[in-house]
Amino acid sequence: MEDYKNFLKEVLITRENLQKRITELGEEISQDYEGKELLLISILRGGVFFTVDLMKNIDIPHVVEFMGISSYGIGARESTGNVRITYDIQTNIKDKHVLLVEDIIDSGHTLSSVIEKLRIQHPASLEVCTLLDKASRREVDVPIRYCGFDIEDKFVFGYGLDIDEYFRGLPFIGVVDLDKYEPED
Ligand code: IMP
Ligand code: MG
Repeated sequence: MEDYKNFLKEVLITRENLQKRITELGEEISQDYEGKELLLISILRGGVFFTVDLMKNIDIPHVVEFMGISSYGIGARESTGNVRITYDIQTNIKDKHVLLVEDIIDSGHTLSSVIEKLRIQHPASLEVCTLLDKASRREVDVPIRYCGFDIEDKFVFGYGLDIDEYFRGLPFIGVVDLDKYEPED
């Protein structure tokens, strides 16, 4: 994989702005779930980076679980309604207050399918916290309780989001210049 600087169009959200917003979200969640059994379900792999920083800013007792999802169909960058669980949560969510933590909601297929699978396990509540929302791309409705940033329809990377599995560890969110990026195959 080449250096991301070759195709970085712009830094959309800086490290400082990410951290500032995540601090606010953590405070809001802490207030809303005060006195409740909070269980975060972090969606692998992209949601993990956001989840970890969010947890540092939630000051009420809570636990975390992970769920791996793979959507298959047309190409790696478009998700379809075909969503498969590759790694499932290890605890019973019945009567727990579940908050799903995801990096980005695009078409909405991934999360709406996860929500459907979790609802039948009867959590006390089930809400969504996403770092980024590309609302203009939505194909199926997803109820979002907490959102970090609304973004335009641009392909972004960093802070959990990958380009062909690379660059998840960058501390900022960047926009890909699609004229300069050559996908490897
Ligand atoms: P959805 O099912 O279309 O909502 O897709 C959500 C998933 O697509 C996210 O969890 C990401 O893995 C991926 N995704 C969507 N947009 C982007 C992007 O701009 N950059 C990197 N990954 C993205
Ligand atoms: Mg993802």
